[in-house]
Amino acid sequence: MKVRDALLQRKSVRAFLNKDVEKDTITRILDAARHAPSGSNTQPWQVAVVSGKKKLSLQKKLENAHLEGVPEKMDYIYYPRQWLEPYKLRRRECGLQLYSTLNIQRDDVEKRKNQWLANYRAFDAPAMLYFFMDPTLETGSFMDYGMFLQSVMLSAEEEGLASCAQAALGQYPELVKTELNYDSKLILICGMALGYEDKKATVNSYRTPRESVASFTQFFE
Ligand SMILES: Cc1cc2nc3c(=O)[nH]c(=O)nc-3n(C[C@H](O)[C@H](O)[C@H](O)COP(=O)(O)O)c2cc1C
Repeated sequence: MKVRDALLQRKSVRAFLNKDVEKDTITRILDAARHAPSGSNTQPWQVAVVSGKKKLSLQKKLENAHLEGVPEKMDYIYYPRQWLEPYKLRRRECGLQLYSTLNIQRDDVEKRKNQWLANYRAFDAPAMLYFFMDPTLETGSFMDYGMFLQSVMLSAEEEGLASCAQAALGQYPELVKTELNYDSKLILICGMALGYEDKKATVNSYRTPRESVASFTQFFE
């Protein structure tokens, strides 16, 4: 697969087939992604692959935490504290497009709630990946991490798999680390749904727009 094809083909998938992903396939994806660059070759990534019974029990706990109103608190601030333009509008459109694809009306609180809850089940993907980082690392390592995450998603694409990076899976970091018996000091970066795309699912027909190169690039000669 050409890099360009993988880049253009990748999209966030929010409905998956009930088909397991082989451990070997996930290992191959991570084996390719580990070649991502990082400042001074720090390689800040630490990954937990969660599937089977462990996934079911973790997702139940995440859903319950949300339903019980446990305050969400990521290990770092992912989204802006104050949404300003043009990001405010892009974010709004992103949400609106998702709900309109699913034909969920603005005031249909129940359906919106259920769609959001699906996040905590990694949209029923057979595998849920969790990404952690040592807290002694700084902002630059978040940048390195992004390169690794995209490498995972593009490698998944090549394997015929689909993904969705999920900040939502990082909203209850203590719960996740306790459940996985993971080092509580590590920063939970985000989660990721991984599996085979359900191509018949309406939610997966949703494609997000992008700004043109000309809108964000200036050439100086
Ligand atoms: C780090 C990160 C976290 C994200 N978190 C979520 C999430 O919690 N739930 C969700 O449905 N989508 C999530 N997304 C997907 C974005 O909404 C999506 O990437 C964006 O709208 C662009 O669409 P595309 O991925 O289909 O190209 C996340 C993406 C990234 C990169």
